[in-house]
Amino acid sequence: DVPKLLLGKRVLITAGPTREDIDPVRYITNHSSGKMGYALAQAAQKLGAEVTLVSGPVTLSPPSGVNILKVSSAEQMHTCVMQNVKNSDIFIGCAAVADYRPIQKNSQKIKKSDQELTLTFVKNPDILSDVAHLANAPFTLGFAAETQNIKQYALGKLQRKKLNMIAANDVSDENIGFNSEQNALTVFWPEGELKLEIADKNILATQLMELVAKRYTK
Ligand code: C5P
Repeated sequence: DVPKLLLGKRVLITAGPTREDIDPVRYITNHSSGKMGYALAQAAQKLGAEVTLVSGPVTLSPPSGVNILKVSSAEQMHTCVMQNVKNSDIFIGCAAVADYRPIQKNSQKIKKSDQELTLTFVKNPDILSDVAHLANAPFTLGFAAETQNIKQYALGKLQRKKLNMIAANDVSDENIGFNSEQNALTVFWPEGELKLEIADKNILATQLMELVAKRYTK
């Protein structure tokens, strides 16, 4: 049995990819499986927290005892998070939110022709940054998937997005990160850092949630 480090605390977590519609039959997305976010939700719940999971389209079943809100696009995820973040003590942005969406969803299926096809994309709102910049912001943890200069980019995001913590993973390593069972993370906060060695995502999630609980309580 684990000590209930987050007893009664409200934790809001985003997980999975987002899906950006192009037309009624097509969309763009990414390889996020949602495993890390779902594992974090379970870990937080085990630590005694009241957990709400805002999830993009994934094939996982929600952890028991967790309140799940399903969304599809980044805009929907943004709206859902902003509506539910108010009473949160901790916010974890674990979703792989699409940075861009097609400027408009075609109402009809785009027909093929002999011409090239150009799609124009516009930027999606940054959910994590918007939460962290709220006047009454919860304790925020973000993720940074990087292929190089991991520390430098992670610290940049920590500052720019005004986060309390950031967990960086090296997605150039095929054994960890996107769509795999295992992950390894280096966690940064303004006064320190901690390396969490490669492990199953549920083990890593417990270690990370314990670290969040510790930093949150400080
Ligand atoms: O800037 P970058 O996309 O690398 O930041 C990753 C972090 O920001 C992740 O925690 C992710 O969940 C969050 N994010 C977000 N909304 C976006 C883009 C990223 O919440 N539109």
